[in-house]
Amino acid sequence: MTHARQHLVQVVAHRGASEEAPEHTLAAYKKAIEDGADALECDVRMTADGHLVCVHDRRVNRTSNGRGAVSALELSDLAALDFGSWKSRDEEPDWERRPQDPGDTSVLTLQRLLELVADAGRPIDLAIETKHPTRWAGQVEERLLQLLKRFGLDAPQSPAESRVRVMSFSARSLHRVRSASPTLPTVYLLQFLSLRLRDGRLPVGVRIAGPSMRIVRSHPAYIQRLKQAGHQVHVWTVNEPEDVDLCLELGVDAIITNRPRAVLQQLGR
Ligand code: G3P
Ligand code: CA
Repeated sequence: MTHARQHLVQVVAHRGASEEAPEHTLAAYKKAIEDGADALECDVRMTADGHLVCVHDRRVNRTSNGRGAVSALELSDLAALDFGSWKSRDEEPDWERRPQDPGDTSVLTLQRLLELVADAGRPIDLAIETKHPTRWAGQVEERLLQLLKRFGLDAPQSPAESRVRVMSFSARSLHRVRSASPTLPTVYLLQFLSLRLRDGRLPVGVRIAGPSMRIVRSHPAYIQRLKQAGHQVHVWTVNEPEDVDLCLELGVDAIITNRPRAVLQQLGR
């Protein structure tokens, strides 16, 4: 792999630098920025009082000291929880010994993440995933676009110039985004490869495919078909060096990883 070729691959921090810091916290995103990630991935859900927060699971039980569904809790309920201590308990014993700013392990709103990126001092892309958008029938996308508008990110001149892309396993969610904001790029996420999609076609209007690493390993020819059809390919979650190698070999456009620093090192960056 040539140096020039490797530079074409974007390294995206999945839920922040989520191997080293608690996922979806400011601490994880600050670490990813410090590590040199090109882009940040985050999942968004809507609270009972209409705020978009960065949380992966439907419920907060796994990643906080609270219980309940995000959609049933208000932002003030979430603000009272600790989204960092589970990591020191179960995942990363060293984590609690590291210095942390107050608030770095509180619930993270999408607005705060957008502020962090705006203040980063260098261009950083955002890959925002709408989680279970059917629960709110369009309100997640509406709120997302309102927030992006506040930061001047909702209507790029062209998809290539956009600093934000919206990802989803739901083609309907992506369609809602494109209807309101046609130049905002959308990424159709795929966990498994259905027969319907094997020819390399994506839902109408979608230009970027987001296959799982599992698909890439089991169906490399599918990735080649996507590329031949002119689509970009953004792969998740790429944590092992041999998976990074395979992605490079296949010419994927973005590697979404819990370990941005390790992947950047492997790319010689
Ligand atoms: O980047 C896409 C990937 O995050 C999708 O899976 O479950 O980690 O949100 P998940
Ligand atoms: Ca995600």
